[in-house]
Order: sequence, then C-alpha cells, then structure tokens
Amino acid sequence: MGVSDTVFLSAHEALGHACIQRCDACGHDLSPLDPSPECPSCGGLLAIIHRAPVDVMGAPLSAKAIQHGFMQHCCALPMGHPSGVWRFESLVMPGAGDAITSHPEGNTPLMARRRVSEYAGCDGLLLKHEGYNPTGSFKDRGMTVGTTQAVRTGATAVACASTGNTSAALASYAAQAGIPGLVFVPAGKVALGKMAQTLAYGAKTLLVRGDFDACLKLVQEASRELGIYLLNSINPWRVEGQKTIVLELLQQLGWDAPDFIVLPAGNLGNTAAFGKALREAHALGLISRIPRLVSVQAAGAAPFAMGFRDGFITRHTVQAETIATAIRIGDPASWDRAVRAIRETNGLVISCTDDEIVDAKVAIDAAGVGCEPASAASVAGVQQLVRDGVIRDGDRVVAVLTGHVLKDPGMLVELHQQRPDFAKANRPIEIDASVQAVADVIAGSRTEAA
Ligand code: F0G
Repeated sequence: MGVSDTVFLSAHEALGHACIQRCDACGHDLSPLDPSPECPSCGGLLAIIHRAPVDVMGAPLSAKAIQHGFMQHCCALPMGHPSGVWRFESLVMPGAGDAITSHPEGNTPLMARRRVSEYAGCDGLLLKHEGYNPTGSFKDRGMTVGTTQAVRTGATAVACASTGNTSAALASYAAQAGIPGLVFVPAGKVALGKMAQTLAYGAKTLLVRGDFDACLKLVQEASRELGIYLLNSINPWRVEGQKTIVLELLQQLGWDAPDFIVLPAGNLGNTAAFGKALREAHALGLISRIPRLVSVQAAGAAPFAMGFRDGFITRHTVQAETIATAIRIGDPASWDRAVRAIRETNGLVISCTDDEIVDAKVAIDAAGVGCEPASAASVAGVQQLVRDGVIRDGDRVVAVLTGHVLKDPGMLVELHQQRPDFAKANRPIEIDASVQAVADVIAGSRTEAA
C-alpha cells in the first residue's frame, strides 16, 4: 500500500475534520483550510481524503442512507441545493457553507440517442453531456469547488493554464467571486468560443508563445512566486468537483453501475477524478461493482495510451498535435493518479486519429446533440472498442461529452463551408430573396437525394 491508498479516514485519523488534504507522495497531512497548492514538505500533489459519512450519533451511514441524503438535496426539493455538484457536498467539500460560489452547475442530462448508438455500434450507449454546464464544459464542476476554496482561504487572485475550457470556467467563477483571474493559454491554439468567453468574463488573458505544457510550467512557477492560488486540475478541490460527473451519472442510473465509462483524456485530471469517485462509491457500497474506465486520447497527443501499452513502465511525453485542441497535451500532470484509476478499474487507454474524432463529431452533431471536437473522442473510442470486440452486445456504456458544440465554431465553419474535400459538409446556400430561389434549392435537393 502506498501513502495515498486510504479511501476514507477513520474518525481518529480525521482529528475532528470532515476531510483533510494529504500528500500523494509523502503522506503529509494538511487541514482542509490550508491554502498550499502542493505539499509544503516535498512538493507532491495533494488529495482530499474524507471521513466516511456518519449519522448524528457518529455511526457510519449505510449506503442506502447516503443515497437517500443525495436525493434529499435534489434541486426540485425545498431543502435541496440547485447544483449537481453541491448536492454531493458531503463527499466533495463538507461544510463549505457561505463560501460556496455556484452558478449552479451540473445536473447534466444522460441521453440515449439512437443515431449515435447506431454510429458507434452500441445499443446500450448513453451520453452524459457535460456541455450543458453554465460555461459549456465539465470544468465548471471542478471550478465551483476550487473557487469556493479560494474564497474561504482568502485568495487574492486565482490562475490557471488552459487549452481553453478551464480558462473560460475560471474567468466566470472568479468574476462571480470577485477575485481577479489570470489565465495562461497557448497563443493561437485556443478555440474561438473559449477565448471569447474568457475575455468576456474579464480574466486577464496571457497568450503564451508555447504549448499547453509550457503554459502549465509557467503558471506553476508564477503562482508559487507571486502567491496566486492555482486552479489547474492538480488542485485537489478541482478533482473533488469533477468526481460529481460520476456520482451524478450513477445516481441517474439508480446506482446500477454501467459496464464502461468512456471519456476523452488530456491532462488526465478527469481520469484521476473518475477513478477517485468510483473508488469511494464502491468503498461506501453505493455501487456493487466498478465499471471499466476508458480514457481516449487523440493519436497525435497520446502519451498516456503509449504508457498503457507498455504497462505504465515509462512516463512518456510527446510533442502534441491534434485538431482536438482541448486535449492537445504532451506531458499530462495527473499521470500517476490516472494510472491508479485505470489499474483499479481494470480500465483501458486507447487513441483515435483526428479523422476518427472528426467523423464521430459529425455524427454526434448531425444527431442534433452536438459537442466540441475533443468530446467526440469518447464516441470514437466506443466505436473502436465495439469493432475490437471489447464492448459486446448487451454492455451498458456511458460516453462523456465534455464540451458544447459552440466551443469551437471556427472548426465547424472550416469543415462545412471551407473544405472542398469534405464529403459530409452541410454547405449553406446563398440565394436571392425570392420564393423561386427557394423552390430551386428544394428541387435541387430532391434531385440530389434521388
Ligand atoms: N475534453 C475537454 C472538452 C477538455 O477541455 C479537456 C481538458 C478534456 C476533455 C480532457 O480532460 O485534461 O482532465 O484529461 N481541458 C483542459 C483545459 C486541459 O485547459 O480546459 P483532462
């Protein structure tokens, strides 16, 4: 057992806290209100370890009682919390109270869409659409918790490196909290929608001449030297918020776990968070078996998939390149935690080419669902696993769509209006303002269809 293998604290270990921050590397413990972004002893990553939920008498709660508690916090009930993150407060950030900075977020749909299922070749496919969050990506779930920690520890500024979605979420939540936000993004490599949001919400935006990996190094150094609170997904509270994607989808399935959960992977914060959520849910008896986690990378940015193939003996890094700019990451920060998540869930790491990702995106978009390019990697991954016989008839699969279709309008315009070789393009047609012109277009499409 490593130092970080404890799933829940005993009452004795908790020293009166409902949770503590513990260093993954050396096991050093910090109070939940300690503002250190990393272990002050060894510089390792911090993780939140909770005390298992107890009743008023201090006796451990049964799985049924915990599930009932989550139900009671449903947004539809008078005592409920309107957030799909804070509904799970006891397993996220107990006792956050008035510091909570929430839009609200979460409560995203779990969709069955016949056309996407047919495309992937998987009848039992459900789509957990995180693009329905307030800033259009799953990042809001981690950001509401990270910002709440910034508020309750009195941070004077918050910062992150980002491929675009984290920066949009940080900008929005920092604005709500009234804390200045600073974001570091790779110059020229951020999708239009994300950049527009970040500017609109008012974060100071630094276009770094370098890739995401360079941005992350820079923000870590800058926040250490300048005392700015770091809100990347290595922040332990961000991980706690992102766990609620899994908790919520399990709740939506009546705590009957699916066979597979498939998600796109870049910096690996989400893979790590999903692994932690499943570990805790299983330890508490909320689910009786653990789904297999599948992380899907873009082939041009797939160091983790390379690691998986060699049994994670080597920590690979690559010079990343992919059309899915959200996951254009060559040196993922949450590597060790993600390895643990894959190992503990008997999981898989695969990669899909940019062509496969675009093809899946076009299918998801044309089904009326829509998502940003990186998100489509999950459906492309499902299709690959069906083809390879890993996902079989009757398997229940949840693919996470991490971001909204409007995040990357530049890519859509390019695809549908500017690429002459793209066979599935839905080209707009410019016409004169006459009924005859409309009739001509309709007649033309009839001939095309015939
Ligand atoms: N999907 C989308 C839409 C993302 O924005 C990201 C990451 C991922 C998947 C991968 O998640 O990094 O936890 O493995 N976006 C980060 C950002 C890097 O800065 O917005 P991960």
